[in-house]
Amino acid sequence: MLATKDLTIRFGGHVAVNAVTCAFEPGTLTAIVGPNGAGKTTYFNLISGQLKASSGTVSLNGRDLSSTGVSARTRAGLGRAFQLTNLFPALSVLENVRLAVQAAREGPHRRGLNLWSIWSDHHALTARAHEILETVSMADKQHLVVSSLPHGDQRKLEVALLMALEAQVFMFDEPTAGMSADEAPVILNLIRKLKDDPSKTILLVEHKMDVVRELADRIIVLHNGALVADGKPNEVIASAVVQEAYLGVNPQNASAQDVAPPHPGLPPQGERSEVP
Ligand SMILES: Nc1ncnc2c1ncn2[C@@H]1O[C@H](COP(=O)(O)OP(=O)(O)O)[C@@H](O)[C@H]1O
Ligand SMILES: [Mg+2]
Repeated sequence: MLATKDLTIRFGGHVAVNAVTCAFEPGTLTAIVGPNGAGKTTYFNLISGQLKASSGTVSLNGRDLSSTGVSARTRAGLGRAFQLTNLFPALSVLENVRLAVQAAREGPHRRGLNLWSIWSDHHALTARAHEILETVSMADKQHLVVSSLPHGDQRKLEVALLMALEAQVFMFDEPTAGMSADEAPVILNLIRKLKDDPSKTILLVEHKMDVVRELADRIIVLHNGALVADGKPNEVIASAVVQEAYLGVNPQNASAQDVAPPHPGLPPQGERSEVP
């Protein structure tokens, strides 16, 4: 179980994440919603270790990770998707996944130069890499060089790498942002597939309410860095207080697709559906 306790970060005088205490169970997908600037991305950065908390703790399966860095947290099982730092652009899709499988199996302890074990390991690693590429429907692209892949495939490959690294927690921050109309469903399908695995904990920051409704087992709402609502999707979405005050949606427009307008007064973005 992933847990944050009184997790807080201050930037100068501004408290971007304010004493957030929350636990996330394996086998659940939690959507994190709230207006822009609410602290959602910062919360992810605190969990993954990109940012160090001012106070409070982050723990995974009871182990306090608060004082560790990004790579230790990745090894512990915290997977932040779409950091783009994990891919080797000049290598093939298969080589990327195989390296991640290898990194997960070897951990920090590299074995000696025994040719037999290198050969047999290579076969086992390749087999596992193929299995993961099947799961993400990229087996047919295994020999392509990563830099030649379209954006959507690179994102898919990043999820494959988290699978290869045996991440327990998958964090997606607006996974379909900037994706084309055919790329977005591919990533959402992948998240659906991950959801079928009861050992995975999924956190999803997503503005599109139809996506949240379909995928989330639970919704938490951040506002001004604080956790202001936590519950079953229907309850949280139906709550008028949350709709009006925290999601920026007029409760009369219950079908509104976007729960976080960029700023009041700005015209709607292209992907947001119009409310009649
Ligand atoms: N590195 C930083 N330095 C200073 N302020 C930051 C930094 N990162 C985020 N913030 C501020 O923290 C608040 C929360 O930002 P963010 O987590 O990106 O919100 P969200 O993802 O919910 O839109 C915002 O007011 C933002 O300006
Ligand atoms: Mg954000």
